[in-house]
Amino acid sequence: MSQYHVLIPDALDQVAVDVLTKAEGLRVSYPGKLSQEQLIAQASDAHALMIRSGVKVTREVFQAAPHLKIVARAGVGVDNVDLTAATEHKVIVVNTPGGNTVSTAEFTMGLMLALARFIPQGDASLKAGKWDRKNFVGVELRGKTLGLVGFGRIGRAVAKRALAFEMTVIAYDPYVSAESAQADGVEKVELADLYARADFISLHALINNDTHHMINAASIAQMKDGVRIINAARGALIDDHDLAEAIKSGKVAGAALDVYEEEPPPADHPLVGLPNVIDTPHLAASTTDAQVTVAVEAAELIVDYLLRGKLANVCNPAVLKA
Ligand code: MLT
Repeated sequence: MSQYHVLIPDALDQVAVDVLTKAEGLRVSYPGKLSQEQLIAQASDAHALMIRSGVKVTREVFQAAPHLKIVARAGVGVDNVDLTAATEHKVIVVNTPGGNTVSTAEFTMGLMLALARFIPQGDASLKAGKWDRKNFVGVELRGKTLGLVGFGRIGRAVAKRALAFEMTVIAYDPYVSAESAQADGVEKVELADLYARADFISLHALINNDTHHMINAASIAQMKDGVRIINAARGALIDDHDLAEAIKSGKVAGAALDVYEEEPPPADHPLVGLPNVIDTPHLAASTTDAQVTVAVEAAELIVDYLLRGKLANVCNPAVLKA
């Protein structure tokens, strides 16, 4: 007799669905990606939700789901879950922080290379029937300084790869010691120093009061002329209008963006469509490798909690006191 209902309102790998289906005592619904209204309706008898970044678990969802015990995020960012509301409703939110590190780091390197060498622009130009070599003269990564804003798992994985490209890597992260950065061949610096020295800046920070719109007119003014900016973390790290102005003026040579404050970005987004901006639709973690790993980990977190009372990777630890 099924005890717990696990609802998967987002697109997730079938292997993870199988992990849940095989566990005795769980009933699994996998309707595919649900709209907000559908999620609110279908969550009414759910004990667990397993999600990616495609759905928002808002206060309304928690209010509509009185039996909900756990939300498992297959991925890192839980900015699509209202953690305060989760805690108030005594729902545990967990994530899978390690599973997509390498995919995201590899994608970041891809964006950096594409940005340095105009690869998407060259491709689009050739496909438009042109043979233009003079407008796509790039720069090497070798010998350039990469500034990493955030030196957690993904920042470190990017550093490792950038060092193999013979870049100098500096990082700003208030939670990391100079010694631990040095052990990875990276110099820990203050933010102003990073802005002043970096030829490429790659963002790997979470959104909070300190980081929201941290790339803005004031911080860009501190950067080197011709800096290139990569963001495969979260869109709200950047003030889009300020960055667009800096790109139009030539202060910033280009940007490669995989994430947007609103996803998908609106048609009039100031950075989408600029010739020196490469835009991708939040693809950094989208590899079969990463999606299987994070989905299976998320499924196991649900099974462990609902059936064995075991918890890991809790994102709202205040709920444990409740
Ligand atoms: C994450 O937070 O794990 C990434 O942005 C990937 C995703 O949401 O799919």
